[in-house]
Amino acid sequence: MEASMINKTKHFYTTSNFSLKEIREIISLALQLKQVYVPGKLMADKRLLMLFFNPSLRTRLSFIAAMDKLGGQAVDFPLSSSYPFEYKEGVVMDGVTMEHVKDAVKVMSGYSDAIAVRASKLITSESESVKSENWSKLKEDTVINSFMQYASVPVINMESNVWHPCQGMADAMTMVESLSARGENFFAPQLARDLRPYINYLQVTRSPCELQKFSSVSLKNVVPSLVPPVKNKYVLTWVPHSKALPMATPNSQMLSACELGMDVTVVHPLGWELDKEILDIAQKTVEKSGGSLNISNNQNEALRGAKFVCAKSWSGMKYFGDWGKEKEVRGKYKDWIVDKAKMNLTKDAYFMHCLPVRRNVEVTDEVLDSRNSLIYKQAENRMWVQMAILLFLFEFANSMKSCSR
Ligand code: CP
Repeated sequence: MEASMINKTKHFYTTSNFSLKEIREIISLALQLKQVYVPGKLMADKRLLMLFFNPSLRTRLSFIAAMDKLGGQAVDFPLSSSYPFEYKEGVVMDGVTMEHVKDAVKVMSGYSDAIAVRASKLITSESESVKSENWSKLKEDTVINSFMQYASVPVINMESNVWHPCQGMADAMTMVESLSARGENFFAPQLARDLRPYINYLQVTRSPCELQKFSSVSLKNVVPSLVPPVKNKYVLTWVPHSKALPMATPNSQMLSACELGMDVTVVHPLGWELDKEILDIAQKTVEKSGGSLNISNNQNEALRGAKFVCAKSWSGMKYFGDWGKEKEVRGKYKDWIVDKAKMNLTKDAYFMHCLPVRRNVEVTDEVLDSRNSLIYKQAENRMWVQMAILLFLFEFANSMKSCSR
């Protein structure tokens, strides 16, 4: 099956497969859950199977915590290079591959209610950039697309070569939350009370049929709508790093800010352009959301008037597979580090970073540890937003099943 034929709304691959309304409902639900959470059984009997082809701290721990808080279970399958899958169809498997991905994923679907996958070529614990294919090959996202193709349960993208939607959603949630805390009321906290009976009801609901019945009333009817921070200036700035890093996180961070209708500026040195197809998706998104998208190569100018500064390093698309050359050129941009002088150009902006961060290479300690830094909130909100994503996907999965058991 072609990747384009996969039912992507069943899966959580990129936020661009969902409507703005759905995205905002998920963020609103996450904010509500954070405010009114009581330990319970929303996902009793549910199992999330996680496969990490690359290292992770936040994504791994936040999904474990999310499932735990929902009363379900997260299973971290101990995957390593000693379990190589075959991805090609019709191949004679007399080489190093151990199992065809279609067999493995169909088996996994029988043991789990959702499968979460991290598969990104450039996330490694190596001290130097690893060898890679060119960008057009990596962009195929073969691993996660194969999982989505063969799984009969929802697949969640925990970062592929192209997208990191959970990070984008957590950042969006953090921005809405922070503006509300400043009194710019994009999310009315008093509305949290409205969700309490719903949450309480779900906490004591054990039967999947009962849950399905209640879910059909829908989260949408009980979660207050989010008023997005339209027109607030958001700057995603490229920063230096000692290694070539993936573009998935900046792609999703940019897109999430576009989905909130913000005035988004992406600033980077010449040669570090994001993929044209991704930029086109972001442009179409701002046309719907009421925001704007600008690309700049002048960091100081871009930072002026910003309400949010998000720092991220990524690799230059044209250098994929030639990191020696990239490193040489990247070395000239060490002054793209975010420091206090640059933050002073902004409108008292909040500072954001997805972490892990190379302190005093990407951003100075002074900025990371300042009162405007949102880095730990972003990390915590990964858990809350993933709880909301899981509830959203299970509601979708429930509505697809007959309630016969
Ligand atoms: N931000 C993020 O995804 O962190 P991890 O790589 O630690 O999961």
